[in-house]
Amino acid sequence: MQPPKLFTPLQLGGITLANRIVVSPMCQYSADDGSMTDWHFAHLGTFACSGAGLLMVEATGVTREGRISHGCTGLYSDHNEAAMKRVLDACRRITRAPIGVQIGHAGRKGSTQRPWEGGQSLSASESPWRTVAPSAIAYDNTWHTPAELTSGEMSELRDAFAAMTKDEQFLKEADKIGLEVGLIRGEDLNRDIETTLRDKRMMDLYRMIGSAQ
Ligand SMILES: Cc1cc2nc3c(=O)[nH]c(=O)nc-3n(C[C@H](O)[C@H](O)[C@H](O)COP(=O)(O)O)c2cc1C
Repeated sequence: MQPPKLFTPLQLGGITLANRIVVSPMCQYSADDGSMTDWHFAHLGTFACSGAGLLMVEATGVTREGRISHGCTGLYSDHNEAAMKRVLDACRRITRAPIGVQIGHAGRKGSTQRPWEGGQSLSASESPWRTVAPSAIAYDNTWHTPAELTSGEMSELRDAFAAMTKDEQFLKEADKIGLEVGLIRGEDLNRDIETTLRDKRMMDLYRMIGSAQ
């Protein structure tokens, strides 16, 4: 008898998944200045035991200001990289499933409280940071108005994304790492689309990052 298709292999470019079950990237809001903690060890470790064909690591900021909240993971420091390596190395010892990292930038949605703190823009007493976006358009009227990225800053951002794909040491250590570029989060798409359409420079940034070598 043929197994259900869900449990058959799937070829994705150069990677073969043992089955078609993918663990979505899930923000845990439990990092310490971008570095994974024991929480991630337990969270991703559990999914490494699950038998899923692909594990995706949560949205991970390419820059410190590109994080959504103070609790989001990043890859902007050596410490961040070492902390992620510790977790992924443990996962690799448990599963042969490829592990992907969703690299992203929160743009105008950055500097936000963790969901259980309200999920709103950080107030002045919560160490907010300067957010940036292609245009100085706030996500909503209670949110920070982002600073408009200069074209030089857009290039720096593109380079930050490209640097992730070129960090050979990290890629080697993390083994079969896949990278997913996340500029907009799926569940926010319908809420964000209106702001995105108003932001005429957004497509320029998408194109620039999409074409980064
Ligand atoms: C706790 C939680 C955290 C999430 N974090 C991310 C994320 O980091 N990046 C992302 O693209 N989607 C994120 N999502 C969305 C999921 O990846 C997924 O797209 C969404 O849950 C819809 O899939 P479903 O219908 O199977 O639940 C998150 C969802 C949950 C429940």
